[in-house]
Amino acid sequence: MTDRTWSYYMRAQAIQYMVKGFLQSLRLKSAHKQIVSLGAGFDTLFFSLSSEGFLKDTKYFEIDFPEVAKQKASLILQHKELFQGLGKTSAENKQWLGGGIDSEKYTLLGCNLKNRSLLENHLLKCGLDTSLPTLLLSEVVLTYMDPPESSTAIIGWAADFFKSAMFVMFEQVSPHDPFGIKMIDHFKNSIGAPLFATEAFPTRQSQKKRFMEEGWPLVRCPTLNFFYYDTLSEEEKSRLENVEPFDEFEEWHLMCSHYIVLAAFKGICEDICEELFSQLNVGTYDHSSPLKDVQCTVRVMEVLPSRDKLKRQGHTATPLSDGTVFLTGGFGLENGKHMRLDGVQLLRTVEGSFHCGDILPDSERTLGGRMFHTATRLKDDNILLYGGRKSPSNPCEETILLSLHNKHETKPLLCTEDDFTSRVEFSETRYKQTIFTCQGDIPQLRWRHTATHVTLPDGSENVLIFGGRSSSCLALGECYLLNTKSKTWKKFAIRGDAAAPRHSHTACVWDNHVVLAGGLDAGLQALSIVQIMEIDVNSVKLRTLSVDPPLPPRYSHTAHVVDDNLVLIGGVTPISSHPPGVIVLHLKNLTWKSYTLPACLTPSIPLMLHNHCSVCWEDSQGIMVLGGGGNCFSFGTHFNDGPVFLDLSPLREAVAFKCA
Ligand SMILES: C[S@@+](CC[C@H](N)C(=O)[O-])C[C@H]1O[C@@H](n2cnc3c(N)ncnc32)[C@H](O)[C@@H]1O
Repeated sequence: MTDRTWSYYMRAQAIQYMVKGFLQSLRLKSAHKQIVSLGAGFDTLFFSLSSEGFLKDTKYFEIDFPEVAKQKASLILQHKELFQGLGKTSAENKQWLGGGIDSEKYTLLGCNLKNRSLLENHLLKCGLDTSLPTLLLSEVVLTYMDPPESSTAIIGWAADFFKSAMFVMFEQVSPHDPFGIKMIDHFKNSIGAPLFATEAFPTRQSQKKRFMEEGWPLVRCPTLNFFYYDTLSEEEKSRLENVEPFDEFEEWHLMCSHYIVLAAFKGICEDICEELFSQLNVGTYDHSSPLKDVQCTVRVMEVLPSRDKLKRQGHTATPLSDGTVFLTGGFGLENGKHMRLDGVQLLRTVEGSFHCGDILPDSERTLGGRMFHTATRLKDDNILLYGGRKSPSNPCEETILLSLHNKHETKPLLCTEDDFTSRVEFSETRYKQTIFTCQGDIPQLRWRHTATHVTLPDGSENVLIFGGRSSSCLALGECYLLNTKSKTWKKFAIRGDAAAPRHSHTACVWDNHVVLAGGLDAGLQALSIVQIMEIDVNSVKLRTLSVDPPLPPRYSHTAHVVDDNLVLIGGVTPISSHPPGVIVLHLKNLTWKSYTLPACLTPSIPLMLHNHCSVCWEDSQGIMVLGGGGNCFSFGTHFNDGPVFLDLSPLREAVAFKCA
């Protein structure tokens, strides 16, 4: 199942929740009611509600342009099972119906919504009663009306015309953040249907304000994410998760936070608000830090021969000891096609210019495409590749040790001056892969986990694996250590504070500890928690930091410890309308500062900071973000145009900032 299917499901779920809430409202019990669907198009809601018995005391009106109404009427009249559900139909020829239908239970009116006097007149002729409690439904309609004042006029007209009403408007919001820019571009340039009201009323607050100013005294404006968290039962959530393997959480959350279900109430319908929203528990997150946000300075870096190799998501970027960055896997562009990437690349600076090149394997066998895996640098500059997946039901099985060498020699490349030069000659370098056959407490196959290089108090070199997800489990919480010398896995008990199972979190080394931050838990809630892992020879002790106010929850971010600061970059916060930007948390005094990021790097190319990688750069002058973006199904796949250098120098005013 794709994020698009999940989003359509949530849209239908949210609309049904609101419509059925109106029809079943205790306040309106046994009252006659009306539903007026503005710009109904080919929506079939009337027929499904009617067949489920919801419309016994309710008349349903639909309005759309005459040409749409004519087509819909003809379809209905051709299908007996639809036609029969309409009740008694008058045989009289009603020209003013605009090609629609007028029946006992259902009216379809062909009329331009902008022509309100005609609309009023025709609705009254069809038996509309302005004194009855009425639900006005507008599902992605008003935003297309040009100019936006014409849709505002409908909102005001409805408040004047109906004595008691509920107005439900489903449409897009937040057009100016990176995902919103992609969304607006899709509607304007790919579909040719610009979102006028979304641009004129870009936030939930501005939409609420326009309804209130137009005569609606009570307005609520949740995004689709709230309907997932607060209206679906646990059984329904697990049914949804089990329909088909799903792994596009970031795009789904972003999509759902860009659609609002605005509900406005007046008259006796105001009482329905409490019935509908009393169970909406999830508050929005205002992620501003106690100090005023500062904007990070970012710049796109040029790469030779091109930046295309860095257009990828769910990959790995591992700095070697000489600063060369080792890239593997992810989803990206290969020969003009989108696919899971198979190759290995190196990125390095030579005389101030970035170079990125493919490294060939030393045998026939390539790595194979994988994403959401980890690539951990060991002491000897070899790389341990662990986990990852092909499809969400097909995890990668092999743990692989990768090493680099010159194609003419078998000796491994070490970080000497000579090797430094030879690595720029990418064609001279080969990678060797060795299957790392391990024993011990073998962990279940996973992806979206973290793998951290740690040295235990007994001096042994290990890779610590925490969290992730598997094909059957949405969030894993165990901790495993792989001794790289004996190739033995050991499951480590977790003591101290509870370790919420999670994936898409971060784990960074800080002194002899590991700092865990954020992640997505099994209930698909993003975490704000920061925990310190104190590692002993046989167990791990978790200590939760008391950060007050708490950090914005996030997942699919990246993190670095720079001196005693934890720097969090990007990610997704489902319950916020804003992308989470950059946070710097001082790990000792627990104060934090938040930085915003520009939505675009170059005009119209958004910077979407999820599924990206980042590395500390130039002695911590800043952080280099490599790749990122998402497969935003309806709106197209987005790859960041990078690499992007984040200059964190404003931070130096507050704390000393140098790369460990
Ligand atoms: C994206 S469709 C949505 C259809 C339906 N509400 C749904 O959710 O399936 C938008 C509809 O609004 C109608 N529409 C837009 N502007 C209108 C106007 N000024 N008067 C009447 N209908 C309009 C279009 O014809 C189209 O059928």
